[in-house]
Amino acid sequence: MKRIVCLGGGPAGLYSAILFKKALPHAKVEVYERNRPDDTFGWGVVFSDKTMAGFRAVDAPTHDAIVESFHHWDDVDVHFGGRTIKSGGHGFCGIERKRLLNIFQERAAALGVEQSFCREVDASAEVGKADLIVAADGVNSVQRARDAAVFKPHIDVRKCRFIWLGTHQKFPAFTFAFERTEHGWFQIHAYQFSKDLSTVIVETREETWKAHGLDKFSTEESIAFCERLFGAYLGGHGLMSNARHLRGSAWLNFNRVLCERWHHGNRVLIGDAAHTAHFGIGSGTKLAMEDAMCLVAHVAQARDIGTALDAYHAERNLEALKLQSAARNRMEWFENVARYTHLDPEQFAYSLLTASQRIGHENLRLRDPEYVARLETGLARRCGLEERRPPMFLPLRLGSMDLANRIVVSPMAQYSAHEGVPGDWHLMHYGARAVGGAGLIVTEMTCPAPDARISPGCTGMWNEAQREAWRRIVEFVHQHSPAKIALQIGHAGRKGSTQLGWQAIDHPLPEGNWELVAPSAIPYLPNVSQTPRAMTAQDRARVTAEFVRAAQLGAEAGFDMLELHMAHGYLLASFLSPLTNLRDDAYGGAIGNRLRYPLEVLHAVRAAWPLMRPLSVRISAQDWASGGISEADVLAAARAFKEAGVNLISVSTGQTVPDQQPVYGRMWQTPYADLIRNSVAIPTIAVGNIFEADHINTIVGAGRADLCAIARPHLADPAWTLHAAASQRYGSQWWPDPYLTGKSQLERNLERAAQAAPGAV
Ligand SMILES: Cc1cc2nc3c(=O)[nH]c(=O)nc-3n(C[C@H](O)[C@H](O)[C@H](O)COP(=O)(O)OP(=O)(O)OC[C@H]3O[C@@H](n4cnc5c(N)ncnc54)[C@H](O)[C@@H]3O)c2cc1C
Ligand SMILES: Cc1cc2nc3c(=O)[nH]c(=O)nc-3n(C[C@H](O)[C@H](O)[C@H](O)COP(=O)(O)O)c2cc1C
Repeated sequence: MKRIVCLGGGPAGLYSAILFKKALPHAKVEVYERNRPDDTFGWGVVFSDKTMAGFRAVDAPTHDAIVESFHHWDDVDVHFGGRTIKSGGHGFCGIERKRLLNIFQERAAALGVEQSFCREVDASAEVGKADLIVAADGVNSVQRARDAAVFKPHIDVRKCRFIWLGTHQKFPAFTFAFERTEHGWFQIHAYQFSKDLSTVIVETREETWKAHGLDKFSTEESIAFCERLFGAYLGGHGLMSNARHLRGSAWLNFNRVLCERWHHGNRVLIGDAAHTAHFGIGSGTKLAMEDAMCLVAHVAQARDIGTALDAYHAERNLEALKLQSAARNRMEWFENVARYTHLDPEQFAYSLLTASQRIGHENLRLRDPEYVARLETGLARRCGLEERRPPMFLPLRLGSMDLANRIVVSPMAQYSAHEGVPGDWHLMHYGARAVGGAGLIVTEMTCPAPDARISPGCTGMWNEAQREAWRRIVEFVHQHSPAKIALQIGHAGRKGSTQLGWQAIDHPLPEGNWELVAPSAIPYLPNVSQTPRAMTAQDRARVTAEFVRAAQLGAEAGFDMLELHMAHGYLLASFLSPLTNLRDDAYGGAIGNRLRYPLEVLHAVRAAWPLMRPLSVRISAQDWASGGISEADVLAAARAFKEAGVNLISVSTGQTVPDQQPVYGRMWQTPYADLIRNSVAIPTIAVGNIFEADHINTIVGAGRADLCAIARPHLADPAWTLHAAASQRYGSQWWPDPYLTGKSQLERNLERAAQAAPGAV
């Protein structure tokens, strides 16, 4: 490696030049930067304490110089609704961006890196032949754009405008403040980064920005506007801009950048050129510097450049995606802040602090136990309780149904019924989970007719034998536990007449198949599944009547709640999704039409179901396939359900089409429960990879959902709730009398383990 050229003298370009020169002292390392050394956009940069440890390991002199210039703080202050909510223990440092770049420039010069300033490079050929070209030219990378066909960038222009300003006000904490105007909300993200300077980023929705005419304001007029709006937080100081280099408005849109490839030949993307993370999570500079560390390590070790760049991409892409996903959650929270302003200030602040889904309840408790105690006390008081407790153990009332806690056993098909009649297996399955402590048990999808079943093993509710078998289960649950039990009813539609879940799932039966109906005649698995018949008016009337009969039988069996299954591509779901409903009559087309049949069923069922007993609907709020159900459709559906008397929406996603591309992760469907709950003001159930008590405490604490359904973990552990209570030392959890000695032993053992290894339990 004889010559390495870094295009761009931001954190990514300079830090990689430094590390390359250290790792390969004989190579000629050059940096080309279009600005002067002291020019900079923006003001400060933040790093967490943890990030700094990694920098020390690779280059102590730059680390030490950065530390000397730091301004350190611990608290986050959220100003909202006339209150300031303080949460401590966050451990951040701020540094002036200009100072950071100067530290890098000096260190690079000392090591012998050649730096050319005021040198705009548009084509790498302009700088001659090199062994490696590091494209570190930032978010609007010319290098990336020139070879867009290779790098395949996805650039998502986001919904807010922001302006990056400075001030002499010394903020005592990382500060978020929210102000409402006649056209919408504005927020600031502010922090001190040097002895007498702070950064203030002002952000608002594009439409709010335009409604104020800010698109026509000069920078000076914009500053005056922001000073008026946020004057209360500025202590008499003004705001300043250093965005002289920007052409056009000083208000920018955040561009979320993802690239499919990061290298081509001997050219490699790094930092913002390869990926961006919204400033709400403050990690762009960290990512850029860590990219540099990884790139240099691989290039220095590998036999050839292609192998090195492949390894760099594989390692950093994963890290960047994780951070980008957390940053996206937080960015969307800020974009949709109006959705959360109905929350009281304590919960609003908590919702902000946990919005990335990376920091949860226990992490906040570790940082600042008193803050979490205040939050828990507030939540308990709103539930009429004197004593605080973990949010997952707060009670909830829905219609006439009182739930002891926020844990739901999610519906899970057992494929173990004969002729639709639940048997001993079901009594054991539901009974064990009821005595296992969950507040609500939802049955598996139970079908209103034999031809509505997914498989021959599905439970049904179309005759007295089934009603009596279910009554036995309901009575067991009521007699032996405080749990409530809901009946989920659903019609399989085009996904019916298939094998048991542990056989060839979604594949037709080898023999004995029955006829399928659906909104449109499209098979689920092309060339494999049966083709359903498009439903006629007569079919619709018959199926509606079957749903009504199932609801009546369910009420007679004593169920506390009824859930209509409109998710996962089954009959009612396939009316809702434009991918499965291609009808050209009044039941297809725009969402109003696609909702028509599900609403007909809902109205009929609501009328048949006792008024005070709650009714829930389960939906797929996203199809994970292009052309699928949109956010606007989902909100329209949720509003229509609420109007029709639904008390609760259980928010799942997907399984509409077999070629779906879901993006999995912890709590991955919770944002949809949050969207519906906080936009439509209706209680929701979140579900999907929620598997720790901390997840539930955080979701309920933040008001992202009212209940959390747990499916697979309940298959492994029927007493999931009892264990979660013991591990949180929540002693008031109900246990069945015959098991009480098990409770005290478990609590004692966990207490001993906690004393032996503090923090491990
Ligand atoms: C409002 C806002 C606030 C932010 N706050 C934080 C924060 O608190 N913490 C944090 O870690 N990150 C923050 N970031 C992100 C951070 O600024 C970037 O992620 C980081 O600077 C990325 O470093 P980089 O070197 O890849 O790109 P940049 O810093 O953008 O550097 C690219 C460099 O390339 C130069 N260049 C571009 N084109 C050419 C060309 N054709 N020829 C020569 N030179 C060229 C540019 O002049 C620039 O100096 C924030 C970003 C924004 C927009
Ligand atoms: C074995 C099994 C059977 C399921 N059957 C149903 C069902 O009958 N009705 C339903 O709405 N969801 C059903 N689901 C989906 C779950 O209720 C839940 O939404 C999903 O498993 C995600 O939750 P988890 O990550 O906690 O497992 C089933 C899931 C599993 C694992």
